[in-house]
Amino acid sequence: MKFDVKKFKSFEMNLDGISKKALEEHYKLYSGYVNKANEIFDKLAGLDKDPAKANPTFSDIRVLKVELTRALGGIKNHEIYFEQLGGGGDPAGKLADMINANFGSLDDWKKDLKATGVAARGWAWLAYDWDTKTLFNYIGDEQNTYPVWNCTPLIAMDVFEHAYFMDWGTNKGGYIDAFIKQINWQAVQARADAYGILR
Ligand SMILES: [Fe+2]
Repeated sequence: MKFDVKKFKSFEMNLDGISKKALEEHYKLYSGYVNKANEIFDKLAGLDKDPAKANPTFSDIRVLKVELTRALGGIKNHEIYFEQLGGGGDPAGKLADMINANFGSLDDWKKDLKATGVAARGWAWLAYDWDTKTLFNYIGDEQNTYPVWNCTPLIAMDVFEHAYFMDWGTNKGGYIDAFIKQINWQAVQARADAYGILR
């Protein structure tokens, strides 16, 4: 398995409330996750898989496989986040219908996402649950905490301090408002289409 860093159109845009400097620093963190995921996969490939050497308190395979989830989360979360920055507007079609059906209205969804983001230590996601066929705003404290099986994230909102402190200081809510205003709903729709959600 080999990951490469991707380029994102949001880095060529002038974003309201998220500076180029903050975005460029943020990209370095994303690149770090890509490098670490590749390093971990290399180490796993060369690891002695003898079960007698595995241990749930400490063992090489445990450390590598646990930290791999942080590296992969760091890649996936940031790629969704960077892909969706810049655009604004409102959702349309079935996506808008489902947000209205599951949250009451677009404004109610925004309020829920903002509260979820303020309460989160790292991530807030809008995700589609394939089992219940519903959208929900989920909370995550780390790159790899609280994922729910059979859910596909449609929006990833980074609320780690590194995402906003340079531009907003401790005003996390101000940053969240700025993020929500700039969600590229076409990118969200494209993601839903790519995975066959809302067909
Ligand atoms: Fe981040």
